[in-house]
Amino acid sequence: MKKWQRNALCWCGSGKKYKMCHEAFDEKILSYEKKGCIVPDRSLIKSEKDIEGIKKSAVINMAVLDEIGEKIHAGMNTQEIDDIVATTTAKMGGIPADLNYEGYPKNVCTSINDQVCHGIPSTDVILQDGDIINVDCSTILDGYFSDSSRMFMIGDVDPEWKKLVEVTKECMEIGIKNVIPWHFMGDMGHAVHQHALDNGYSVVKEIGGHGCGCEFHEDPFVSYVSKPGTEMLMVPGMVFTIEPMVNMGKDKIFIDEDNGWTVYTDDGSPSAQWEVEVLVTETGCEVLCS
Ligand code: MF3
Ligand code: CO
Repeated sequence: MKKWQRNALCWCGSGKKYKMCHEAFDEKILSYEKKGCIVPDRSLIKSEKDIEGIKKSAVINMAVLDEIGEKIHAGMNTQEIDDIVATTTAKMGGIPADLNYEGYPKNVCTSINDQVCHGIPSTDVILQDGDIINVDCSTILDGYFSDSSRMFMIGDVDPEWKKLVEVTKECMEIGIKNVIPWHFMGDMGHAVHQHALDNGYSVVKEIGGHGCGCEFHEDPFVSYVSKPGTEMLMVPGMVFTIEPMVNMGKDKIFIDEDNGWTVYTDDGSPSAQWEVEVLVTETGCEVLCS
């Protein structure tokens, strides 16, 4: 960590002197680092301006998901969901972050039943009564990224599948409750994992959450199959996603070879996911996007 002059303006952009702003914070981080802990570097600490920007982006992202919630129904195809994302986002002045991201071809991910994530919208994919679907939406506004996803249940869903969707939402909520400043990501990830295990489910290991806000995917990788006291320290100003992927069956997954994107459960069991983007605060966390 670079030393900062005590009387110089703080690196965070607050306009305050360093000694009145992040000096004590840096010292605390340094003490954890000396103990061998993984700590965030300054690039992961959002300024007030960044947080305002992310919040404005999130207003669009949440409005898009609200709109989908109103319009989603059996018989519609997933390209129609993509169209809603494109038009609603554009109308509100944003840009869908998924489009062209590492070559991704659509505006949103629509993952149905045994699709774990990165389902690609298509006119060929028609929502059926009993389907569960994750719609994962991300927005760019003024260079700031918001990212969240929700599950939708189409018509009459099998009670076992409904339970998977509900428990997965609880997993996300447990994640939120366990975002505590100066605790570890692994404490949070472990709590999420434990709730899934307690219900007989498994959690995908290979894909998880991520820092977010000034870029789409920032450090750190956020695992929900982690151990207490491990992974990065959570400190005020960090923004990341909580987005566990919970499988009713085994955690093994595979990627669709034809499109190179869509992830499926290996055993064909259904999978659910909810995603929020959170800011670590002095006392806990604030959900910026849901
Ligand atoms: N929104 C996803 C996430 O939660 C990322 C999708 S990347 C895409 O991180 F290219 F598939 F759109
Ligand atoms: Co995400």
